[in-house]
Amino acid sequence: MAPNIDNNKTHITFITAEETYGVRHPVLRPGRPIEDCEFENDTHKDTFHLGLYVNSLLIGVVTFMKASKDIFEHKDQYQLRGMAVLEAYQGLQYGKLLVEKGEGIVKEKNGKIIWFNAREVALKFYTKCGYKIIGDAFNIPKVGTHYMMFKILK
Ligand SMILES: CC(C)(COP(=O)(O)OP(=O)(O)OC[C@H]1O[C@@H](n2cnc3c(N)ncnc32)[C@H](O)[C@@H]1OP(=O)(O)O)[C@@H](O)C(=O)NCCC(=O)NCCS
Repeated sequence: MAPNIDNNKTHITFITAEETYGVRHPVLRPGRPIEDCEFENDTHKDTFHLGLYVNSLLIGVVTFMKASKDIFEHKDQYQLRGMAVLEAYQGLQYGKLLVEKGEGIVKEKNGKIIWFNAREVALKFYTKCGYKIIGDAFNIPKVGTHYMMFKILK
């Protein structure tokens, strides 16, 4: 049965790129080699990773990295990547908490916009978090249909 958010002690903290693999691997790269969990610029100085712990267990991760797209006129763009919550803990607001925490940190770093390539299955989640689609659907090999989404930070 899915755990009840109210009965669990949760906290969000900075983690390393390698620590994200504990959630990236089963959720985003199931059945694939662990090396496939590594993203370009994972260890860049401007990249940060957040982990959400429930009772000391890492159950959710997200990564933010500086990356610019010409389509946006704003400077100081951040790309959200590797958003994942362990299956047993999905639908309990943990993903939203991670996104909101990341947005706050990006703002502290003077980031003006967050964008990313969203899996089709996650569109509703990101819409609930206040993100909008820009452009048409496109395919990412081995992963599937994606849409670019963004939010201008206020
Ligand atoms: C997508 C994901 C990160 C969302 O995290 P989560 O903790 O399950 O989502 P939350 O509980 O924080 O959901 C926040 C809101 O989005 C909604 N939502 C989340 N996933 C949804 C879905 N698949 N369909 C419809 N609504 C969804 C929730 O109902 C909630 O709405 P509310 O605020 O009105 O109650 C998580 O389900 C996941 O890891 N999925 C598999 C990996 C994946 O697709 N990652 C995204 C790659 S781009």
